[in-house]
Amino acid sequence: MAQIDMRSIQKFFGSHQVLKDLNLTIEDGEFVVMLGQSGGGKTTALRAIAGLETVTSGQILIDGVEMQDKKAADRDIAFVFQSFSLYPHMTVRENISFPLRAVRMGAAEREKAVNEVAEILQITNHLDSKPSGLSGGDMQRVAIGRALVRRPKALLMDEPLGVLDAKLREQMRAEIKRLHISRGSTSVYVTHDQVEAMSLADRIVILHDGVLQQVGPPDEVYLHPTNAFVAKFVGSPVMNIADAAFQGSNGASSVHIGGAETGFHFPEGLINHVRNTGAAVSLGVRPEAVLLSHTTASGYFAAKTSNIEPLGSHDIVDVQVGNTVLRARTESGFVQGEGQDVFVNIDPAQAHFFDVTTGLNLKGAQ
Ligand SMILES: Nc1ncnc2c1ncn2[C@@H]1O[C@H](COP(=O)(O)OP(=O)(O)OP(=O)(O)O)[C@@H](O)[C@H]1O
Ligand SMILES: [Mg+2]
Repeated sequence: MAQIDMRSIQKFFGSHQVLKDLNLTIEDGEFVVMLGQSGGGKTTALRAIAGLETVTSGQILIDGVEMQDKKAADRDIAFVFQSFSLYPHMTVRENISFPLRAVRMGAAEREKAVNEVAEILQITNHLDSKPSGLSGGDMQRVAIGRALVRRPKALLMDEPLGVLDAKLREQMRAEIKRLHISRGSTSVYVTHDQVEAMSLADRIVILHDGVLQQVGPPDEVYLHPTNAFVAKFVGSPVMNIADAAFQGSNGASSVHIGGAETGFHFPEGLINHVRNTGAAVSLGVRPEAVLLSHTTASGYFAAKTSNIEPLGSHDIVDVQVGNTVLRARTESGFVQGEGQDVFVNIDPAQAHFFDVTTGLNLKGAQ
């Protein structure tokens, strides 16, 4: 186990800068998930930690020791790739024990370590099989077992569940979490699946275009996104974002979505520091903060439903407000179909305001 410290990391491939001044400290025993769109630099950051990629400048410290110029083999960090990189001619037992033979561990000790890992990963009955006979999930369990068996300082996983089907991903996700809790190894896990990130991470790191956008525990990133990119990237369905304008003053403020005749009421205290920015703003509300009602009530105004997405446990209902379609999370069967008359409001306490130009959260309603 170890602390990993990335300081001012810059990485260029030719003239293309892929990591832009990355600063990140991963604590001993922490499970950090790197999340971001394709091409954001996640794999490059992970490979840089492992020593599979050099950095252009900056330092990588492992337990306080500078490692950026050390070879991968000298860093004692294990890596699990998206594809199952197992040796096909070896049995599962031989695959898992391979890193131990490489360091000349004795047979009895090796046997004990392999059995222990196999038990945690529930692959004991496959130890004498060849990888080709295993399911995708079991192959990835073997790959994780091989990475963990020598108790590396840190375990890096690059979309390890990427090729598995949805059900198996969910099951493996729970296993990886259990494994982390039982082993306590410092783990860095890359994914572009935000549900995976939310469920696994102690802290989520969001990378976009080589720039670190936000680092924080899942609920913090979800509830207090630092900018519109993070807000839209975390949460499903995505946060509703609409152009908005403030109207009224002296305690009677409302926020109008572009094209809407009526505005949503906001207590002055929630928006007074935002309205003073003077710039145009975007209003951000998650589907659970868009409130629908069959009857009118204070703060609600009439709207019509458009698309309905029944999801079993709840529905996602689209309502047209001005030029914008707001997606609302409702109980199942709340509305029957398209074109229904409903009343809509938003929970002002769960609203966000973003600067239209920079995307930065103006922190009006937090
Ligand atoms: N060896 C390389 N040579 C040149 N460019 C590279 C190399 N490796 C990565 N890149 C570029 O660096 C950028 C970041 O790539 P990286 O693979 O780190 O992104 P990622 O976040 O892991 O994306 P994905 O989600 O698709 O795996 C991309 O534009 C990619 O094309
Ligand atoms: Mg990648």
